Amino acid sequence: MIKKNSLVDGIGNKKITENYYDNWSGYYEKTLNRWNYQAPKKCVNILAQKIKLKPERILDLACGTGFFGEEMIKRFSSVKIDGSDISIKSLNLARKKNIYRKLIKKSFESNHNSKNYYDIVSMIGSMTYCKKHDRLFELVFSYLTHNGYFIFTQRIDLWNKFKLYTVLENFSEKFKIIYKSKPINYLPNNKDFSKKIKIYIVLLKKFK
Ligand SMILES: C[S@@+](CC[C@H](N)C(=O)[O-])C[C@H]1O[C@@H](n2cnc3c(N)ncnc32)[C@H](O)[C@@H]1O
Repeated sequence: MIKKNSLVDGIGNKKITENYYDNWSGYYEKTLNRWNYQAPKKCVNILAQKIKLKPERILDLACGTGFFGEEMIKRFSSVKIDGSDISIKSLNLARKKNIYRKLIKKSFESNHNSKNYYDIVSMIGSMTYCKKHDRLFELVFSYLTHNGYFIFTQRIDLWNKFKLYTVLENFSEKFKIIYKSKPINYLPNNKDFSKKIKIYIVLLKKFK
């Protein structure tokens, strides 16, 4: 049985997180819908408003069961989306949706070896699990085409704890902040998150 409040406090190391999401995968979407998880849809709305290119190739890091891919395809029907995650069972569910071109089991802290290839990299609802922000931002920078975009969400409590603003400042010659949302609800119908834990949605653009 999964202790849901451990989501707020953190799950554990990578292996424990992998098992947790494997065990949860079969009812993850039902649960998240019940909690009124809107981040994937909101991120797609922001991309539709803010980006200055027609996206062709997207890498969806920590794609899970494919919520974001589904929303992307609805809005940008011709886009090719690749995804990665450490939970093989979540990836298998994403595969069944037939919207991802390629899905691989890989940590977002490992190199996806896709230099200057993607117009957009996304990481939705998953920055919580990042332990090495500098490495992640460096890797994402390498995957993006010139003027490509990185969209992610981060819980505000963890944004402060991990001093994300300082990390972004350190990358200010590589990424420009195009958009940072006001604090928005994350899982409003989950009693541990409700109105207490909010997120930012952040859109960065890679400098040439
Ligand atoms: C809250 S879910 C979000 C999934 C999906 N992006 C969504 O919006 O529904 C968090 C995801 O992060 C994945 N994850 C956790 N740590 C990871 C890591 N180090 N590398 C890749 N994926 C990871 C989990 O397996 C899980 O699928």
